[in-house]
Amino acid sequence: MTSSTLDRVALANNPAICDLRSDTVTRPDQAMRDAMSNAPVGDDVYGDDPTVAALETFATEMLGKQEAAFFPSGTQSNLAAMLSHCQRGDELITGTEYHVKSSEGAGASVLGGVAIHTIAAEPDGSLAPDAISAAIKPDDAHHPVSRLLCLENTHKGAVISLAAMQAASAAARDKGLAVHLDGARLFNATQALGIEPAALAATADTVSLCLSKGLGTPAGTLLLGPKDVLHRARRWRKILGGGMRQSGILAAAAMHALQHNVSRLSDDHQRAATLSQHLIDIGAGDPAHPTRSETCMVFFTPAGDHMAFRASMAEQGVLLGGNSPTIRLVLHKDIDDAKLDRICSAFSAQCGT
Ligand SMILES: Cc1ncc(COP(=O)(O)O)c(C=O)c1O
Repeated sequence: MTSSTLDRVALANNPAICDLRSDTVTRPDQAMRDAMSNAPVGDDVYGDDPTVAALETFATEMLGKQEAAFFPSGTQSNLAAMLSHCQRGDELITGTEYHVKSSEGAGASVLGGVAIHTIAAEPDGSLAPDAISAAIKPDDAHHPVSRLLCLENTHKGAVISLAAMQAASAAARDKGLAVHLDGARLFNATQALGIEPAALAATADTVSLCLSKGLGTPAGTLLLGPKDVLHRARRWRKILGGGMRQSGILAAAAMHALQHNVSRLSDDHQRAATLSQHLIDIGAGDPAHPTRSETCMVFFTPAGDHMAFRASMAEQGVLLGGNSPTIRLVLHKDIDDAKLDRICSAFSAQCGT
């Protein structure tokens, strides 16, 4: 490792640091570690791991789906879902900036020969039913076969209403398409909407649900859906190298998170709103890009050079994410009220008030 890498590692691992880069930086707490160390395990590739089996059953009941499979990551779970719904020569439709298009290496095209048709999201992050209908191709040999609509909620932290999700889904289902929901932060959405997780999950045939973001596990994502699709997804998981052995250690963390860390996501949303209001109150940031919060995220644009801004915030113990010019600040389980106070003070000092 270079010395700058070592510096970065030391910085990120300093418990006094307020790390706002992402909710993926959360570390398992003692109760989660205890659940992990006590978990009964077996070889899950043989289907022998009782903790993975218990997690999958628990999740199907929570989300109202037939079957679930535990994956190492959200990218792999989304990919297995897309490859299970679509064949070579098919097409999926999704939002231009949705994660499956913008940040997952076009895996469905690379590995599955699946075309990706993008449509621009509405200001609320949803996909308009008319735009979906217009994107679906007629049955004509010139075109790929439109097979799947991929939705996302939350999208860049923003909650899409249940009605907008239902309308998008209906536009696809009316024309015979299946629907996949990238619900990496599904519980942030359901907590903010005040609805049952199963109600949002019902807008899609398959749902991918990340456990290693605000829910705080070290790794893992659940894919849920109908038996036949999940059967194919398990095959894809193996092909993609995602068959795990004594993964009950991770499933125990996931079970703990589903039982203890869902309702507390509202605390992250509240702290994001508090931080956003503080930044507005002290007049920090570029007035051309107003500061705002969406669930657990705050979007803030520094008035001057954002690299210098980031560096001096790091000197004050606050790590900011890499986006530019607007920086995404993510509140999560490892930022409590005391750390939030320190973050607000650091912004006040930095922005000269
Ligand atoms: C909306 C969304 N979907 C999927 C993923 C992929 O998850 P993973 O990092 O576990 O591959 C992410 C990761 O940040 C995400 O934000």
